[in-house]
Amino acid sequence: MSLVGVTPSTRVLAIETSCDETAAAIIEGGRRIVSSVVATQSDLHARFGGVVPEIASRAHVELVNDVVAQALLEAGMRLRDVDVIAATHGPGLAGALLVGVSAAKALALATGRPYHGVHHHEAHLYAAMLTDATLDPPLITMIVSGGHTLLVAMDDHGRYRVLGRTVDDAAGEAFDKVARLLGLGYPGGPIIDRLASEGDPSAVAFTRPMLDPREPDNLDFSFSGLKTAVVLHRRKYPDVDVADVAASFQACVVDVLATKLLRAARQERMGTVVLGGGVAANSALRARIAADADRASLRAVMPDRALCTDNAAMVGAAAWYRLRFEAPTGLGGGATPNLVLPGTA
Ligand code: KG4
Ligand code: ZN
Repeated sequence: MSLVGVTPSTRVLAIETSCDETAAAIIEGGRRIVSSVVATQSDLHARFGGVVPEIASRAHVELVNDVVAQALLEAGMRLRDVDVIAATHGPGLAGALLVGVSAAKALALATGRPYHGVHHHEAHLYAAMLTDATLDPPLITMIVSGGHTLLVAMDDHGRYRVLGRTVDDAAGEAFDKVARLLGLGYPGGPIIDRLASEGDPSAVAFTRPMLDPREPDNLDFSFSGLKTAVVLHRRKYPDVDVADVAASFQACVVDVLATKLLRAARQERMGTVVLGGGVAANSALRARIAADADRASLRAVMPDRALCTDNAAMVGAAAWYRLRFEAPTGLGGGATPNLVLPGTA
């Protein structure tokens, strides 16, 4: 296998189908979004209160060709104008991943362009670099999505150290589950974000999980107990304003996430902190990180909101950077639901 030899004019056509977003984008030179199209399936899953894997796979099959065509149309390009075809190949829902990987490999085969598989978390990590063109490692990044909560030291492109992770539920999962338990709908993150702005974040003093002062170096997370605490509180005080409960829950999650991100930067002596993943779109989290980073004289970079949740632009960026020093995956590559972040020490 040979290196592609990516250059600032190399164009990647990227596809993302790991969960319930069908997305395609064209990225040039790793940083420039030529086009980015996202078709969300959240309406299809809303009545079930969460993503139904089989429904997600079928919807991806129906949408993927149109989404790719739309990305090309918006870019004013044809297939032959792209140099590399990339797709998220894990982690994620097996059937959902397979749709994007198969579509990308078919396009690669038809065009003779190389196919490259991208790790979904590495993609989330590159979203901030599409927002801030001057951003480069070393940095500390926190990926907070529906499936994962990870604190990662990025020493260089492709070189990572996982510093902390959730021991149970992911942050986004906690938002979704709490919203469901409060009868607010799906997806829970944006709904709680909105509702919390009308509530009092100090109304309920939920215990901050994994912020034990006896463990000042701990960088792991736990959100499953918090979810139970919200349920128990609701049962005990059914008349309490739901906006107050939502705001208090959100304040608790934000407090834990911000504290650990800043702690990691301090421990690793890094000057830049970065957010990624759907929960990075949360207004309270963004405001808190901006304020904390300012106070600690750190640079904080947060992706534009549309780049926080699943999209293919971040996949194209991650592919371009990997292909600077790695051979493309090739047509033999499959989809891996529990893929490990490459380059982790
Ligand atoms: O990164 P993402 O689109 O998909 C995964 O890779 O999981 O993240 C989706 C998660 C969902 O749990 C959703 O509720 C959460 O991100 N989310 C938010 C917000 N927007 C999306 N959580 C809190 N506040 C938001 N504004
Ligand atoms: Zn994601």
